Amino acid sequence: MSETRDALIEAARDAASRAYAPYSGFHVGAALLLKNGDVVTGANVENASYGLTLCAETAAVAKIANEGWIGELAEVAIVGGHPEGDALTGTDPVSPCGRCRQILNEAAERSKTDILVHCASGDGKTVKTYRLSELLPAAFGPKDLGLLK
Ligand code: THU
Repeated sequence: MSETRDALIEAARDAASRAYAPYSGFHVGAALLLKNGDVVTGANVENASYGLTLCAETAAVAKIANEGWIGELAEVAIVGGHPEGDALTGTDPVSPCGRCRQILNEAAERSKTDILVHCASGDGKTVKTYRLSELLPAAFGPKDLGLLK
């Protein structure tokens, strides 16, 4: 049991409480651990035009990119579920969608780190941890455009 992992999942869970998800009712939080120990979070932002929804991971990566920290990513935690009171329900770990994997890859390549991605269930009982390279093998990224030194 890693303290870093559990603290990161708790930060993601707190972020999920600020999800704007009136259409799906599925609240997702993402927490990004930076190399200096700071944690930046995001939650999903849905839209009446459903396809315009922003996932939690995407919202969080936009925050670090806007602060100039896209090359500082170390680790990620994601949690999601349907809220019941202050808690989230659900027994299955939330795995990042395909678009989010690609968006995380941008930050991971810039950070020169095959980041750990902790995927937690809403009920907090199950966590699956992957390397991003397992979730998105043979990724296309800035390296393929010759942009990494
Ligand atoms: N969602 C995320 O925030 N991240 C993911 O990786 C998967 C899905 C959100 C999008 C939508 O608001 C809700 O979960 C249901 O799909």
